[in-house]
Amino acid sequence: MKKIGILTSGGDAPGMNAAIRAVVRKSIYNGLEAYGIYQGYSGLINGNIKQLELGSVGDIIHRGGTMLRSARCEEFKTKEGQQKGIEQLKKFGIDALVVIGGDGSFMGAKALTEQGFPCIGVPATIDNDISGTQFTIGFDTALNTVLNAIDRIRDTASSHERTFIIEVMGRDAGDIALWSGLAGGAETILVPEEKYDMENIAERLHSGQKRGKKHSIIIVAEGVMSATEFAEELKKSINIETRVSVLGHIQRGGTPTGFDRVLASRLGARAVELLMEGKGGRTVGIEKDQIVDNDILSVLGQPRKFSSDMYDLSQVLSI
Ligand code: F6P
Repeated sequence: MKKIGILTSGGDAPGMNAAIRAVVRKSIYNGLEAYGIYQGYSGLINGNIKQLELGSVGDIIHRGGTMLRSARCEEFKTKEGQQKGIEQLKKFGIDALVVIGGDGSFMGAKALTEQGFPCIGVPATIDNDISGTQFTIGFDTALNTVLNAIDRIRDTASSHERTFIIEVMGRDAGDIALWSGLAGGAETILVPEEKYDMENIAERLHSGQKRGKKHSIIIVAEGVMSATEFAEELKKSINIETRVSVLGHIQRGGTPTGFDRVLASRLGARAVELLMEGKGGRTVGIEKDQIVDNDILSVLGQPRKFSSDMYDLSQVLSI
């Protein structure tokens, strides 16, 4: 193996650049050539590919987003699209690929591996929803961005004695809501993994009020419903003044935390090692501070185990 390709795909996540840097530098350190594929799988189909040198990835470790840019590509889900991608890989003489992204991006990696191009998936998404790893690249940064927002909103909530409903990202997974809600002292956390009871939420708010509690923070993962919908539902059960705040894409950007940079560096480097060992069709991850790898088939479409213990704790601590 002489040439490794790298692409980022799906929603961007802080730390993707640190992972790209690790893949490029680890490859060059080992006498391999590294090729950046721009705009994810659509760039692969279109041959938007350039060789990356050591300097190409200088001054990016601290930057959010992805220097390779990202895209969600419908065409690559088809056999024809994959064939076009393979032709481009052959044209550039690329022997193997590192795919940095989420579950959807790993589908492409699996398809390419099955067609003779070994791929390794590096989990990067703010949602922290990939199995085979305790943490995905970008989650820690997003968590801290959300916490920062919660802390600010809390100032206004307390000054004006209001209940704030804050909508965070997480289409299918509640980790951002759970972790930020627990760390931000939220009274109520709504996640797609757990059922909620509106009467019970209203009752808790009501008994809080009776104890003299003047403000509350409610975190809603977007996968449950929008914060506006929740505010309307809540109004039917309790008469309190609420305000809604949708954090949106600010959660995806920004300087990666130290944790995300280190995680990205370790996972990116391990991906190259696996390819050098002749392995493909695997994903890398972290479990109990050890870098691990798993068959991509065992990871795909498997929701990561939700921490019910943490959810229960959040209920206890928010009485
Ligand atoms: O990256 C995952 C995610 O942030 C989801 O939580 C969210 O629903 C989705 O991406 C939105 O992405 P986009 O606006 O890029 O389609």
